[in-house]
Amino acid sequence: MTSNSTTELDHLLSRALTDIAAADDSAAVEQLRVALLGRQGAVTTQLKQIGAQPPEARKEFGAAVNRVRDQLTDALSARADAVLAAERQAAIAAEEIDVTLPGRVGHSGSLHPVTRTLRRIEQIFTRAGFDVAHGPEIEDDFHNFEALNIPKNHPARAMHDTFYVSDETVLRTHTSPVQIRYLESHTPPVAVIAPGRVYRCDSDVTHTPMFHQVEGLMVDSNVSFADLKGALVFFLEEFFERDLPVRFRPSFFPFTEPSAEVDMGCVFCEGKGCRICGHSGWIEVLGCGMVHTEVFRQVGIDNEEFTGYAFGLGIERLAMLRYGVDDLRLFFENEISFLRQFS
Ligand code: FA5
Ligand code: MG
Repeated sequence: MTSNSTTELDHLLSRALTDIAAADDSAAVEQLRVALLGRQGAVTTQLKQIGAQPPEARKEFGAAVNRVRDQLTDALSARADAVLAAERQAAIAAEEIDVTLPGRVGHSGSLHPVTRTLRRIEQIFTRAGFDVAHGPEIEDDFHNFEALNIPKNHPARAMHDTFYVSDETVLRTHTSPVQIRYLESHTPPVAVIAPGRVYRCDSDVTHTPMFHQVEGLMVDSNVSFADLKGALVFFLEEFFERDLPVRFRPSFFPFTEPSAEVDMGCVFCEGKGCRICGHSGWIEVLGCGMVHTEVFRQVGIDNEEFTGYAFGLGIERLAMLRYGVDDLRLFFENEISFLRQFS
């Protein structure tokens, strides 16, 4: 064996050992294994040289190459074990759970205050014998206006800041069209409420562009204004469970005659007058009246035989007063800290 080959082997061994010691992950160790012991590897190449040695040097060279191979095989496997152990340790450390940390508490959802108020209203009226009906939010001009005695170009249309979908179609401005739809398909006596969303181009502390109303309709022989007043006072007492001043104020709606609006004493200023009640001490919660003869005529009900009352109340207004919420727009901002107060 030539001293040249020995020196070469020594170099190979010491370089390889240095590289192995520096390999710091499994991939690097594997790369070195291939580079040294793989089919084209440096050690494998030396092994292939054994036969090319002069006969007298062959045995010694062969033994030297095999020693180097065994030494590197051991070093690689020791390094692979060490690196793997370190990698496992790191993975465990990364997943470590500090059991002394406070837990993450899941928040349970709750009903939106408007939904709660609506359910409360429905409960009170259904207990009193009213049915519940629904109508479309995209409504035709006939049901939203015409049949309610609000002909085209009638000044009363200006009371509704209407969102038009097309000339003949609107986002319903109130739940009153459900009165018409219900009377088209039912014959008196009827007692029904119709809750739902309504839309108006309107926004301030007591107005939002989308809000909820509950329509009420009672038609029978001998229904009087006293019945209307009795039903509403009963409802408001049940709803608020506390003594709030109520006032019936003469008003106008084309589809009722006579008509009234009902105001509740402002809970924010105890009736003294504030920004929320427009300094009047009162907040309007509903409109009502005796069903107009023209409405009965539109749906083919005999005016001589039947009379009826109707009302339309604002759900957010009632929620606002019951929960003491001083800006109606808060109901639709989905501020989680606001909503949590109702859970
Ligand atoms: C009407 O909408 C009539 N359809 C009510 C009615 C029904 C009268 C049946 C007679 C017979 P008014 O526009 O006043 O009326 O609205 C009724 C109620 O809805 C108001 O008293 C108020 O509580 C609520 N309201 C009205 N506009 C808004 C708004 N922009 N945001 C929130 N609530 C509103
Ligand atoms: Mg009004």
